[in-house]
Amino acid sequence: MTEAYQGGVAGKNRRGFLASAFSWLGLGSLATALASTLYANFRFFFPKVLYEPPAQFSIGVVSDYPPGTVSDRWAKEHQVFVVREQDVLYALLRVCTHLGCLTNYFSAEGLFKCPCHGSIFSLQGDPLAGPAPVALYRLALSVGVNGQIVVDKNRREDRPGPRNQSPYVLKV
Ligand code: FES
Repeated sequence: MTEAYQGGVAGKNRRGFLASAFSWLGLGSLATALASTLYANFRFFFPKVLYEPPAQFSIGVVSDYPPGTVSDRWAKEHQVFVVREQDVLYALLRVCTHLGCLTNYFSAEGLFKCPCHGSIFSLQGDPLAGPAPVALYRLALSVGVNGQIVVDKNRREDRPGPRNQSPYVLKV
């Protein structure tokens, strides 16, 4: 009888402890679920918006690009190199035509090189080595009334004939 009584007390304490633990666990889960829901609703009002630079942008005037130079001024924000040859100017999209990595310009060699799989492009954008199947894209250019050159990334050309004609080259 005494043993049963002591066992009863121990069992009661154990049950009490378990009930209390489960109660706290339940409350914790409920609080976590509630907090998650509130956070998700809060985030709904602040969507993650990716900043995309405009497809058309001004790059200055012809005299900003001396003959025989490649400008990387727009390379970071717009992924565009501006190439000025003696009597033409064109804008090359630096996105590699293999799998889309960004090429870099190496002035000592006068070449564009892709860091991903080793494609190499000439100053005109032609593929010279590596897996890239076609030339870098040239982008359409126009000149505004104030002499500002405008690049249009929505219009691009990489075929050997058309890319050497207006609007993909600017005769200067
Ligand atoms: S992405 Fe440029 S070589 Fe593969």
